[in-house]
Amino acid sequence: MNNVVESTLSIEQNPNPVPAAERARLLESPAFGRVFTDHMATIRYTEGKGWHDAKVGARGVIPTDPATQVLHYAQEIFEGMKAYRLPDGGGALFRPDANARRFQNSAKRLAMPALPEDLFLQSVRELVKLDREWIPSGEGSALYLRPFMIATEVALGVKPAAEYLYCVIACPVGAYFKGGASAAVTIWVSDTYTRAAPGGTGDAKCGGNYAASLLAQAEATREGCDQVVFLDAVERRWIEELGGMNVFFVFEDGSLQTPPLTGTILPGITRDSLITLARDMGLTVREEPYSIDQWQADAQSGRLREAFACGTAAVVTPIGKVKGHKHNFTIGDGGAGVLTTKLKAALVELQNGRAPDPHSWLDRVF
Ligand code: PLP
Ligand code: COI
Repeated sequence: MNNVVESTLSIEQNPNPVPAAERARLLESPAFGRVFTDHMATIRYTEGKGWHDAKVGARGVIPTDPATQVLHYAQEIFEGMKAYRLPDGGGALFRPDANARRFQNSAKRLAMPALPEDLFLQSVRELVKLDREWIPSGEGSALYLRPFMIATEVALGVKPAAEYLYCVIACPVGAYFKGGASAAVTIWVSDTYTRAAPGGTGDAKCGGNYAASLLAQAEATREGCDQVVFLDAVERRWIEELGGMNVFFVFEDGSLQTPPLTGTILPGITRDSLITLARDMGLTVREEPYSIDQWQADAQSGRLREAFACGTAAVVTPIGKVKGHKHNFTIGDGGAGVLTTKLKAALVELQNGRAPDPHSWLDRVF
């Protein structure tokens, strides 16, 4: 069923790219996800035919019939990854193979066809090559890639679609949070809404998870917080993750803890990379449940020294304060902790090609 009929992309330069001076202006300080490049990659899938019409060409609109399945039943998945400017002027992706595999897992959960890993990799690499002038070089900036797949069959029956569009767009980005890259954030504990239940889609990267998180995120914003943290849907006590990031805790003995991957949280690639880097440094990392009440007690007793959020968009962001209907506490002195800063530097230096890459995570594109 998933037979591939075309395994190479056709490549066509945008005949009307953004003029260089305008691009330079846009690259100065792009807000997250507001400025887009000149190109996009697209691949179509049709049941019985497989993947076809693979190309990278000018970015443009996707004509959509009002009965297109994704508009009604949200059969949609996406990825988030970054290309970095290297010290010699080259460009590299960070662990794109891990994004390709997670995209396949998300596709499986949403009853969508699996895009072969080599086609995923070709699509992101060729897009980065064509849009190489759009990779910013400022500290903390990168080219964010957004691969996604939608059900394009025109039909209202509730069933897996027979046609899909895979697409990759790109945008130059700086810090995700308004306060900048190293400012600590305040997070809101949602005790009204949950993000994912056992057996649901919590470990898939599908748009529906984010739609379901928006009301809780809006509540967080109303309460003066930057992000929401979700608790488990069964006992409403175990910390799961933030709306768009995983979470780590740092203890007085220098050990780290992060919630385990039990199916309701997204297996973050930054999370996995930080676990590896921390263990490389000789630190102890536990993947064990941690309750919200314990978090408050440990922050107040001083046993918990630091906490941070992590993800492709957020990189490593210190958590300074936690608020909720039943919780209100500060972590450490409310700023960025020593270990948080050290781990972030280790990751960022590696991603930007300024530190050794012992795990071969960088995928040099040009
Ligand atoms: N959790 C959620 C809900 C996310 O949206 C993200 C961001 O992609 C993450 C965690 C972190 O994943 P990654 O490190 O792969 O970007
Ligand atoms: C990412 O970090 O890539 C994400 O998808 C989360 C973002 C939308 C906040």
